Order: sequence, then structure tokens, then C-alpha cells
Amino acid sequence: MNTTTPTPTTAGARSHHSRSHLRPPLRKAVLVAHLLSAGAWVGIDVIVAVLVLVGWFGQGSTAGLAYRALGTFAVVPMLVVALVCLATGLLLGLATRWGLVRYWWVLVKLVLTVVLCVLIVVALQPRMPEVVAHGEAVSRSTGTGSTGSRAEVIWLFFPPAVSLTVLGLATGLAVYKPWGRLPRRNR
Ligand code: HEM
Repeated sequence: MNTTTPTPTTAGARSHHSRSHLRPPLRKAVLVAHLLSAGAWVGIDVIVAVLVLVGWFGQGSTAGLAYRALGTFAVVPMLVVALVCLATGLLLGLATRWGLVRYWWVLVKLVLTVVLCVLIVVALQPRMPEVVAHGEAVSRSTGTGSTGSRAEVIWLFFPPAVSLTVLGLATGLAVYKPWGRLPRRNR
């Protein structure tokens, strides 16, 4: 038996290793930033969900304040952590053996993250002035019995629900790493 011929496993491990362009301490630092940004993104989504619930079920000035805070402060930090998560994910993919289009779990995470970032910019950000205006209307109506039209803001339940579901899915993909590699011709 020729013991000098590398087995597919050792050859694969060697080629994986040679594709890793980040030294271990730097890779770990990028991974820490990746995990912190993903965690912060989940946290901001939870805050958004709480504000949406307080706006919907709260009374008068409390509900108005929740909508104004949501419309004023939520989107920019959310976009920042989303972009940090995307950038560090891209770096980890490009600079480690995982690649960006080598494993299904990385590619699917990439697509999901890009879709969420685009939705934040295209679907969420432009509607924030309308949320602030609704909050001001709700605050003004305190004591008059009118709470503005709730139907105008029912859509606000969807962004945190969709985002938390997708982020949960992405975390599951990162941990379980399912589905193996893409066919070679796609890489
Ligand atoms: C939706 C946002 C994301 C979440 C919640 C997320 C979550 C995670 C988690 C929890 C890990 C740690 C897994 C482990 O060490 O076992 C991880 C690692 C990783 N993520 Fe993400 N991720 C996201 C977006 C992305 C994107 C967009 C990419 C690539 C384009 C990416 C690429 C990677 C890679 C390559 C690793 C492995 C790093 C390593 O072990 O060297 N992630 N991610």
C-alpha cells in the first residue's frame, strides 16, 4: 500500500487549511464580532417587538411614545448590526475553509442576510415617518377617546416576526451546518 498518497480526507483537510487566509486569533476576533452583531440584531428585533406590542396594547401617551421611539430609533441601529453581521460573515466565508458558495448552509445564510438587509432599507426605513406620525396622533388623542387608526400600523407586527424567524433559522444553519457541499460546478 502506498502510504505517501494522501487520503481524500487529509488532502481535503490540507486544501481547506490552505484556503484559510485569517490567522486563528484574527479569525476568532472576526467570529466574536459576527456573533455579537448577530446577537445584537436579535436583541434589537426583540425591542422592536416589545415596542410594537406596547403601541398596540398600551394606552394613550404610552402607546404614542412606543410608536415614536420605534419610528425614530429602531432602524439605524438595526441596519448597522445587520451590515456588521453581513460583513463579518462575508469575511469568515471568504477567508476560511467554508467559502461563500462552497457549503449550502453558508450560501443560504448569505442569501437570507442580504434579503433582510434589503428589506430593512426598502420596506422598513421609508415607512418610519408614518410610524412617528401615528405615534404623535395617538399621543395627541390622549383624553379624547380616539386612538387613531390602528389598521394603519398592523403591518408593524410582521417585521420583527419575520426577522426573528429568519435570524433563528440562520443561527440553526450556523450550528447544525446541514446539507453538505454544493456541487463542484457551482463553486
Ligand atoms: C442572519 C445572520 C447570521 C447569523 C444569525 C449567524 C450566526 C452564526 C453563528 C451562531 C455562528 C457560529 C457557528 C459556530 O461557530 O459553530 C456563525 C458562524 C459563521 N457564519 Fe454566520 N450568521 C449570520 C450571517 C452570516 C453570513 C451572511 C455569512 C456569510 C456570508 C456567515 C458566515 C459564517 C461562517 C463562514 C461561519 C463559520 C465561522 C468559523 O467557524 O470559522 N454568517 N454564524
